[in-house]
Amino acid sequence: MSADSTTESDGLPTFPDQSRRYGRQFADVYDNFFPMSEASPVVDRLMRLLEDRAPTVVELGAGTGRITVPLADAGCDVIAVDSSPDLLASLRSWTDDPERDRGRIVAVEDDMRTYRGTTERNLALCICATISMVANRDEQLATLRTLRSLVSDNGCVVVETHNPAVVEALSPGGTGSFDFEVHELGVVDARSVLSGDHWHMRWEWGEGAERRAVDEHSLVTTPEQLARLAADADLELLCVEAGWDASQTLDTAPTYVAFFAPRSGSTTLPTHQERPPR
Ligand SMILES: C[S@@+](CC[C@H](N)C(=O)[O-])C[C@H]1O[C@@H](n2cnc3c(N)ncnc32)[C@H](O)[C@@H]1O
Repeated sequence: MSADSTTESDGLPTFPDQSRRYGRQFADVYDNFFPMSEASPVVDRLMRLLEDRAPTVVELGAGTGRITVPLADAGCDVIAVDSSPDLLASLRSWTDDPERDRGRIVAVEDDMRTYRGTTERNLALCICATISMVANRDEQLATLRTLRSLVSDNGCVVVETHNPAVVEALSPGGTGSFDFEVHELGVVDARSVLSGDHWHMRWEWGEGAERRAVDEHSLVTTPEQLARLAADADLELLCVEAGWDASQTLDTAPTYVAFFAPRSGSTTLPTHQERPPR
């Protein structure tokens, strides 16, 4: 069974550098937990954001291409940056296959905290709580500065991360456990530990020698904290939405999505069809 082996401090493993280790743990099961087939609400929302602008996108922490691939299928040119060679190998199984690739994805192995590109894009993405996978606020700021460096003046930066209210609800008094069904893996036991703004999730499944464990550490981040950091990266908050489904609310949605624009730019935001901006 693979699991965290880092030093214990205050009952929690220390916050590790996850730039490579996350992908090492998740590469063969990522699509079970986060199927590409369920990505259409995200892709629809992002395509609506582009409106009549050229569909140029950069995704930081693109992973296996859960969002990158359907965006490319919808006509976007996507630069897909990820620090995990294991997860990028899955993405390259798309880009290397002439039957599936539309020539629209460039996969780049690099670190989102320091990556700098050569072209500006109309959408710069850091979604599925990737911004919370770094160990501290300085690294989040560095990631936001990368996003700012990559987005055009009338483009949009989209950051999705965990909803702190839901993280707390999953860890009453600091710990919690629950289980859920994951496609092809069966019942997965989840254990949640929250200490300050450090949230550790462990998932375990399988029997006997086949038992597996994977860990994820997250830096819990409120929309207000994210907006303050973004301001230091020259990004202005346009609005915050509850997940990708217009029927959700910020009390219960597992994630929130924050939309930013360069302060110097003129970006306006097409909102969810059913809901005004917050
Ligand atoms: C939760 S996954 C999200 C993947 C993808 N965005 C999605 O929506 O399915 C987080 C991704 O961020 C990547 N990642 C973590 N730290 C990173 C870093 N410092 N630089 C670049 N990628 C990183 C991981 O390898 C992983 O692919």
